[in-house]
Amino acid sequence: MNNALDEPQHILLLGGTSDIGLAIVRELLSPATRTVVLACRNTEAGEQAAAGLRHDALTIEVVQFDGAATETHAAIVADIARRHGDIDVAIVAFALLGDDATANDASAAAEVAHVNFTGTVTATIAVANRLRTQGHGAIVLLSSVAGERVRKGNPVYGGSKAGVDGFAQGLGDTLAADGVHMLVVRPGFVHSAMTAGLQPAPLATTPEKVAQLTVRALRSKRRIVWAPGILRFVLMALRHTPGPLWRRLRL
Ligand SMILES: NC(=O)c1ccc[n+]([C@@H]2O[C@H](COP(=O)([O-])OP(=O)(O)OC[C@H]3O[C@@H](n4cnc5c(N)ncnc54)[C@H](OP(=O)(O)O)[C@@H]3O)[C@@H](O)[C@H]2O)c1
Repeated sequence: MNNALDEPQHILLLGGTSDIGLAIVRELLSPATRTVVLACRNTEAGEQAAAGLRHDALTIEVVQFDGAATETHAAIVADIARRHGDIDVAIVAFALLGDDATANDASAAAEVAHVNFTGTVTATIAVANRLRTQGHGAIVLLSSVAGERVRKGNPVYGGSKAGVDGFAQGLGDTLAADGVHMLVVRPGFVHSAMTAGLQPAPLATTPEKVAQLTVRALRSKRRIVWAPGILRFVLMALRHTPGPLWRRLRL
């Protein structure tokens, strides 16, 4: 359970090597933190990430987790809770970006859609069910501005983010009655492993800045946070841009 200063004791990161996810974990760390579980597809990379977080009195565990293996998610979350107790904050940060060609390749598109949508849904439900039983806790779900109006450049990624964003908002509304908080995070372009080598978009930001905004929003119990905040207004305009003009924009 969070302490009197609203600091979590037990943190779970699904997508345990995510640059944004790890920045959120670092921003959440306090003397109150007892355990951090990094659930990773690549546990060797997870151990390296764990080494960057270690300090005395903090237990860090790296567990095997594949976002695509949807049938395993409930058991993985149950096992983590059995060993560590209540989960105070769970961050759902795993995703695949794909590229311009993904929309022309059904099997690549299926992988992105499966991990980003189906895997996110099953993993989030697994966490939500645990938090419901506890009667407290928060889920931070990494959505994206890409889901607010899907770009022609990467419609599979954008479509998957639109899907999980809507799912998380709806699930969050049902969880509120059980004392569980859902925060949907909508970053713009973030300099991370996911975007390495890509041309930065306007208003590009860093994992650390996304993490600061996320933790502030978490503490004030917001439902949605944009990173940076101005993107809320930019996307409000883009959302209503007429189709023929939208298609010509190089975003
Ligand atoms: N970077 C941006 O510009 C940006 C903008 C908006 C939203 N976001 C969202 O923010 C979240 C974090 O992204 P990031 O920028 O931190 O990128 P990142 O560092 O590349 O993190 C993505 C994570 O997803 C994991 N992953 C991919 N497929 C997986 C699978 N099948 N099972 C388990 N883990 C899997 C990756 O693991 P591996 O290390 O094994 O690949 C990695 O840990 C994502 O949801 C992303 O869509 C990012």
